Amino acid sequence: MKKKITVLPGDGIGPEVVNQALKVMKAVNYVYGHQFDCTTELIGACSIDATGSPITQDVITTCSKSDAIILGAVGDLKYDNNPGLAVRPEQGLLELRKSLELYANVRPIVTYELSNTCSPLKPEIIDGVDMVIIRELTGGLYFGKKHLSEDGQRATDLCVYTKDEINRVAKVAFELSMKRRKRLLLIDKANVLETSRLWRTCIEDMSRQYPQVEVDYMFVDNAAMQLMRNPRQFDVILTENMFGDIVSDQCSIITGSMGMLPSASIGKHSALFEPIHGSYPQAANKDIANPFAAILSVAMMYEHFELYEESELIKKSVEWALNEEFVTPDLNSTDHFSCSKVGDLVSLFIQENGEVRLNRDNLMLSGSII
Ligand code: IPM
Ligand code: MG
Repeated sequence: MKKKITVLPGDGIGPEVVNQALKVMKAVNYVYGHQFDCTTELIGACSIDATGSPITQDVITTCSKSDAIILGAVGDLKYDNNPGLAVRPEQGLLELRKSLELYANVRPIVTYELSNTCSPLKPEIIDGVDMVIIRELTGGLYFGKKHLSEDGQRATDLCVYTKDEINRVAKVAFELSMKRRKRLLLIDKANVLETSRLWRTCIEDMSRQYPQVEVDYMFVDNAAMQLMRNPRQFDVILTENMFGDIVSDQCSIITGSMGMLPSASIGKHSALFEPIHGSYPQAANKDIANPFAAILSVAMMYEHFELYEESELIKKSVEWALNEEFVTPDLNSTDHFSCSKVGDLVSLFIQENGEVRLNRDNLMLSGSII
């Protein structure tokens, strides 16, 4: 299969984790004979430094003409605590999501034996969690009209949703529920927000087309608590942009590390694949970042291309690395590997189609593995 991919490594640890994801992609394409042509472009703080803008129109056009986009992360400390700045790295990502109409953000939350031991939650609470958050990505507070009064005393962010915007993402969630346990939960704040009441109306209407799907509703404050108390009760969660941003970071506690959660943003045309973690500038260039979220995002890309065997092989290779404890410091603080070495090992496993025999002790001593 031939595909055109735009690679946006971005800022902080973005380039490091994306490099590992690309190694894995190369290994998969070697095994299955696919040809993916990659173009690397700028987004975020590095784009501001080079062009003055967090994303240029040229880059948006390149992305829109590609089959998929692989993104690392955007953000830099120098922008974080400076509210006066008019240009920010995150605007690049938001503009890209809006321009490509990437309205459905799919965030699977799956636990693994090793990463479970890193979670502050008890094993009996998190073992076997397997859910998916569908976060609306191009509406709500993120994109509503923003205003700061001239005297700087009053600010507004408008939360707007139309029925069309809700219905198209709801359809993704209902379809996914049909393929899973046929249970769908809408997280909202319908006891307070008008937009949330519109979401409920849309979901209730659509549920008539999916009589097999059991639909439930939960206020976001209660959901935040339930997600920590008993996450196994959830299967497919649908929610609006801001709530989805918050609850998905919260769910990384279940998987033991922010570095474990991949995501896919699906739109009308091309799709974007990125880890949910941020740019983590404090860890940049140290080769310590966990590459699994980026690697698993590439697995989601193959799934999107309907290359299911390839996607499964990547997931299997990550499970293998976790079982062998070929992991970065976030998952094992005393006995760990570098980000690039974990990428090498996962790629090797794929290239050898799971037939790889590595001696952990030798690996700890030697610099190279191949
Ligand atoms: C995410 C991130 C982004 C968001 C930021 C970087 C704008 O936190 O993808 O979850 O808020 O959507
Ligand atoms: Mg976020």
